[in-house]
Formats: sequence, C-alpha cells, structure tokens
Amino acid sequence: MKILMVCLGNICRSPLAHGILEHKAKKENWDIEVDSAGTNGFHDGEKPDSRSISTAGMHQIDITNQVSRQIKKEDLDEFDLIYAMDSSNYNNILEMASNERQKSKVKIIMNEVYPGKNINVPDPYYGGDEGFENVFQMLNEATDMIIKKYKN
Ligand code: 4NP
Repeated sequence: MKILMVCLGNICRSPLAHGILEHKAKKENWDIEVDSAGTNGFHDGEKPDSRSISTAGMHQIDITNQVSRQIKKEDLDEFDLIYAMDSSNYNNILEMASNERQKSKVKIIMNEVYPGKNINVPDPYYGGDEGFENVFQMLNEATDMIIKKYKN
C-alpha cells in the first residue's frame, strides 16, 4: 500500500503526517510506503520547516531527510490513498484528477477521525510553535485511525 500526504507547501503539515505514519507503521511492522507532497512547488527541494522538524523531534520522530516536492498527475495513479490536510488542498488535488478511480483515492485526513465533518488541519506557517504541536496532535489521532482502518 502507498499513502501520500498532501498540504500546500510540503514543509509544515504533510511532512509531519508523513513522518508520524511512517514511524508508527515501522513500529507495527506494517509494510507500507509513505510519501508527501505540496500542491504548490514554492518550497521544492527544501527540508521541512525547522518548527516541524523540532516538533517531530520532541516526539522522537526524525523528519530531517524529507525533501519538499510538488504533487504530480502520476501520483494519482501511483498512490492508493491521498490525504489532503485541508479542504483547499483537497479541491486542488481533485482538479488534477482525470477519472473517478483517481478521485476516489483523495480524502480529507481528519475525516478519518471525524467522518464527514471536513475539519481542516490548520496551516501553522504564520503562527507560533504551539500551532505545530496542535498539528502534531491532530495528525497523531488521524494516523492512529488510518492504521486501525487499513492495517489488516
Ligand atoms: P504547509 O504550510 O502547507 O503546511 O507546508 C505552508 C508552508 C509554506 C507556505 C504556506 C503554507 N508558504 O506560503 O510559503
């Protein structure tokens, strides 16, 4: 199974989602591939934001090897599940989809915890460090549900 986490810049939220799920899957011996991407390419080639790196680090998760990239059309075929961090990312990914099979893979991540509520993981970029910990806690819950739902 291949899971893609997507936000706007692929430096704050989706790197945390990527790192948390990868970390938990490894601990659970769940053999999946996790990646992340941004809907824009403004931060292509960059490491995650230092605040995401330190927040992950406080929870013993290392995301320093991640590199930001923009989502591409082929991702919609290659990945089995594509999780958007917010409804804006969700709509932008859906616009890239060229068939129903691709569309059906795209989900708003917090709907795994609160089905149908379309809750956004708030963009922490312009705020303080507490915003990053809040993002971490939300994604911690969501990734628990992903494991419960999809790990056999
Ligand atoms: P992310 O956060 O989508 O969670 O990676 C952002 C990072 C950068 C920008 C916006 C959001 N930016 O405008 O540069």
